Amino acid sequence: MAHLLQRVKLSYDSYLLCNGHAMKEDFLLTKIPLNTRDLEASQLVYGCMGLGGADWSNRTEYTAEDVKEAHAAVEAALAIGINMFDHANIYKSGKAEQVFGEVLKERKHLRDQIILQSKCGIRFADELAPFTRFDYSKDYILDCVDGILSRLGIETLDILLLHRPDILMEPEEVAEAFDHLLSEGKVRHFGVSNMSASQMDFLQSYLDMPIVVNQMEMSLYRHSFADSVVNINQDTSLRDYFPEGTIEYCRTEDIQLQAWGPLAQGLYTGRPIDKENHAVHVTAAKIADYAEQKNTTPEAILLAWLMRHPAHIQPVIGTRNPARIEACRDAEKVSLTREEWYDLLISARGNAMP
Ligand SMILES: NC(=O)c1ccc[n+]([C@@H]2O[C@H](COP(=O)([O-])OP(=O)(O)OC[C@H]3O[C@@H](n4cnc5c(N)ncnc54)[C@H](OP(=O)(O)O)[C@@H]3O)[C@@H](O)[C@H]2O)c1
Repeated sequence: MAHLLQRVKLSYDSYLLCNGHAMKEDFLLTKIPLNTRDLEASQLVYGCMGLGGADWSNRTEYTAEDVKEAHAAVEAALAIGINMFDHANIYKSGKAEQVFGEVLKERKHLRDQIILQSKCGIRFADELAPFTRFDYSKDYILDCVDGILSRLGIETLDILLLHRPDILMEPEEVAEAFDHLLSEGKVRHFGVSNMSASQMDFLQSYLDMPIVVNQMEMSLYRHSFADSVVNINQDTSLRDYFPEGTIEYCRTEDIQLQAWGPLAQGLYTGRPIDKENHAVHVTAAKIADYAEQKNTTPEAILLAWLMRHPAHIQPVIGTRNPARIEACRDAEKVSLTREEWYDLLISARGNAMP
């Protein structure tokens, strides 16, 4: 990963010269767990699920308009200092990776300046079954990675994540697949998504390489990752789906936690809200107030809330809208006090702390 380390040392001017786009002058990479590997990633990640057009099926092709939209989103992400991009083989049935591949083809130097992550393991309906299921078999993982590399037009993927646990997983097969991918130079690092601490620990005991990432749904709206810490010894009906101990396991093992859905799909930042949803209304107003007080945007407050967590979470933002991407720019600069942080959590919960 020498090229990435070198990139970090590039001055603003030379970065501009080789990229031709603006980047904030004080661009400094934050120390996040991923930086303990040979990966120097920005704390914000751009999630590419929205790219590749509106159709999730494989019955349509991507269009020139979809490629244009991908260019604009990538440009906006780079302009706010993002150097890491998240994909999955299933996003728009491969079209998200294809349009990103088109962007890479046109921007010759870009591949060496960014970290590319993709996922596999969710298997949509195909010739074998008319329903979605999970598949961590060795042959399927190897096949998926060949598809990812070909769609993106790259030789090596920086990180491969297993997308969602396969109930029929044979860990020995996953280990064989990962060994093969590493020795062939097709993947550099491996991680998981939507896995609990015990699932990671089980899988890790079969692997020769570390799990470096776990991507979970976490946001001010999906705040059960925070609730799971304080709901111990409480009414069991308060317990949500976030597996207790997952954050602690990731912190102990230097596994990078990534948050999908960090903008709560716009719920607090302008998307029309159902009038009945009192806690969302109150919280959206609170976020707007904090944004005004701190001279920033509601998006920056929302992301700063996640990034204030000591696990150094990487939010994976998924908006395709360049103005909304730009609105995330201040996220790393905004600081929230302990009291402001709890104020937002209590408001989003609609309940006091236990
Ligand atoms: N590991 C997993 O299982 C998993 C699951 C889901 C997603 N992901 C990853 O996480 C990334 C982010 O997920 P996400 O897209 O759900 O998260 P998000 O960043 O919370 O939400 C982005 C979505 O919300 C919409 N949005 C944001 N602000 C809005 C506003 N003010 N008004 C109206 N709409 C607004 C965006 O629409 P516009 O594009 O129109 O702005 C976009 O559809 C994905 O791209 C993907 O990489 C991973």
